[in-house]
Amino acid sequence: MTAEYRHLPVMLAEVEAYLAIQASETFLDCTIGGGGHSSYLGRHLGRDGLLIGMDRDPVAIQAAGDRLDKELPGLSTRLINGNFADLDELLLDLALPGVDAILFDLGTSSYQLDTQERGFSYAKQAPLDMRMNPGTQTLTAQEVINTLNESDLTRILHEYGEERFAARIAKAIVARRSYQPFLDTLDLADTIRSAIPAAARRKGGNPAKRSFQALRIFVNGELDALENGMEAALRWLNPNGRLVVLSYHSLEDRIVKQAFASATVGCTCPPEAVVCVCDNQSVFELLNRRPVAPSPEELIDNPRSASAKLRAIRRRSL
Ligand SMILES: C[S@@+](CC[C@H](N)C(=O)[O-])C[C@H]1O[C@@H](n2cnc3c(N)ncnc32)[C@H](O)[C@@H]1O
Repeated sequence: MTAEYRHLPVMLAEVEAYLAIQASETFLDCTIGGGGHSSYLGRHLGRDGLLIGMDRDPVAIQAAGDRLDKELPGLSTRLINGNFADLDELLLDLALPGVDAILFDLGTSSYQLDTQERGFSYAKQAPLDMRMNPGTQTLTAQEVINTLNESDLTRILHEYGEERFAARIAKAIVARRSYQPFLDTLDLADTIRSAIPAAARRKGGNPAKRSFQALRIFVNGELDALENGMEAALRWLNPNGRLVVLSYHSLEDRIVKQAFASATVGCTCPPEAVVCVCDNQSVFELLNRRPVAPSPEELIDNPRSASAKLRAIRRRSL
């Protein structure tokens, strides 16, 4: 099962440079996937170093474990099947004082997209599932599509897919399911396509792409998880600790940008302080003002990296 876990890690050299992992540090990979980033970056860790890998998807944890055992057999590792929305509890269980380098590589892996039965892809016939952890999540895309009312469906498609034809698509879904409920991905993708005006269908890739993104985000509560995860990750960073986030669409990037902006506001004196005693210095500093994008060479090798944006932040030393 895990031998086929295929996923090319995105912006590996850039992530490596911003995280700048040292031998005795603790590195937390919050979205370890198939272990692509971790198996490469883990080579910087020495005998006193620790790699913590986390993923919501149990298949990813299994695949990453197999890969790390094979490629970095001497490395101290802890692998956790969990949601980074629960970062506080998951790290408290490990009884760690803090973390030196943290990576979030958001969204889905190529393995998840390419595994037909997971139902993430609009291009492969599969049950409408889309759960990142079918073992702990009960809400599926099928239930959302067949039970939510038209206005809720419109809101989800508009908010999480930034789909301008959200209302038309929701109307078409409700009309179609009134005589036959949706069971599979291609069936839904066809209905979405037919609800979009022909002129708009001709540009911007597969017409079902935005709606499938919206459904996936809703089924997995991805944006709430990201807000919680960002907030907790910033708190867990040790002095001089670095946090790198790779995001893949504007909704994710907006949350990361806002979390970093609030962490880097100037004066941190308590409101009752009469004069500023903190030298108007924020606890964190941005490591890049503008997000970094993949190089032209990477885009050729890995077209799926096209929408990636990298942001990095550092907690200042004491
Ligand atoms: C782009 S892949 C990571 C790939 C990995 N960096 C690699 O090189 O193999 C994103 C991973 O994040 C996981 N994920 C998404 N949301 C998550 C969450 N809230 N908590 C934990 N893992 C999550 C997905 O299951 C998926 O395996």
